[in-house]
Amino acid sequence: MPLKSTKLHRAKRLKNDEFYTQYQDIESECSNYLEHFFNKVIYCNCDTANSNFVKYFQNLKSQGLIKDILWSGGLNGLDFRSNTSIELLKQSDIVVTNPPFSLFIPYIKQLVKYDKQFLIIGNRNAVSYREVFELIKDNKLWIGTIPFGASMLFDVPEPEKLLIQGKENITYAIKDGIIKARVPATWLTNIHHKNMPKEIPLVKQYTGNETAYPKYDNFDDIEVKCKRNIPYDYMGIMGVPVTFIDRYNPQQFEILGLDKDFTYDGKSVRIGGKNLYTRIFIRRKCNMSEVSNDNRLLKTAV
Ligand SMILES: C[S@@+](CC[C@H](N)C(=O)[O-])C[C@H]1O[C@@H](n2cnc3c(N)ncnc32)[C@H](O)[C@@H]1O
Repeated sequence: MPLKSTKLHRAKRLKNDEFYTQYQDIESECSNYLEHFFNKVIYCNCDTANSNFVKYFQNLKSQGLIKDILWSGGLNGLDFRSNTSIELLKQSDIVVTNPPFSLFIPYIKQLVKYDKQFLIIGNRNAVSYREVFELIKDNKLWIGTIPFGASMLFDVPEPEKLLIQGKENITYAIKDGIIKARVPATWLTNIHHKNMPKEIPLVKQYTGNETAYPKYDNFDDIEVKCKRNIPYDYMGIMGVPVTFIDRYNPQQFEILGLDKDFTYDGKSVRIGGKNLYTRIFIRRKCNMSEVSNDNRLLKTAV
């Protein structure tokens, strides 16, 4: 029998995982993947019969747009790692759900292990977890159709608590009279969708504006504060905020790693002694013969 503290811990974790996805959010994201879903068995493995995911796919099934919908999990339901759940996983083609944020790493590892196509919701922080980031870097996982910076609203079991503990429009919002939790969440998928990132138009110039692109204290390459400032004439390593990933087009850029993989002290980047948020290190894809020794694009190549 589990120890009382373990039970309590599990109960607390389960409670923190109860964020229920709105039907309209599911419908608006999934509508971009309908051709992939056609004639497929969809599995929602963190869902009860009441889940809006289940309702949405039952609706698609009734219209003949998917082959079948399976579900299990949710509060007091089957663990997604149980044998029964894994058997259902093997029988299905595509997994679509909002899994518990607290188990996101084992959850995604299982999807990769069973080589599944998926469309899931994760906390925005998850993209800098090592396991998730490596998938993004290797172009095996990307952001869904909604910009990475947008947060999502979810129904919660005790919404009135948000009024006491939270802050309106930051941790909760009131929509049609219902209090909903606002969470920095994002759709993550390995299915090509209708809004895959096009190349970012690069309009800024590095040469002549070097002061706008300072070098890090603990790494000898440049900081680019936001993705629209990526210069067209700098071909070395650049640190960009994590929000870059919703515009990451592997034809245009290579993701090299997280900042701490490169810095001389193995820590996050700093400028003028000030720690910055996590940066992703990227480089333009190009023919190296077009690049000078100090990483500038040679004039002939422009
Ligand atoms: C973020 S909520 C989302 C629920 C539902 N998928 C939705 O989007 O409305 C995650 C759900 O997974 C459930 N859950 C927690 N641990 C689980 C596990 N090991 N296996 C399956 N489901 C689990 C939670 O109880 C919770 O209901």
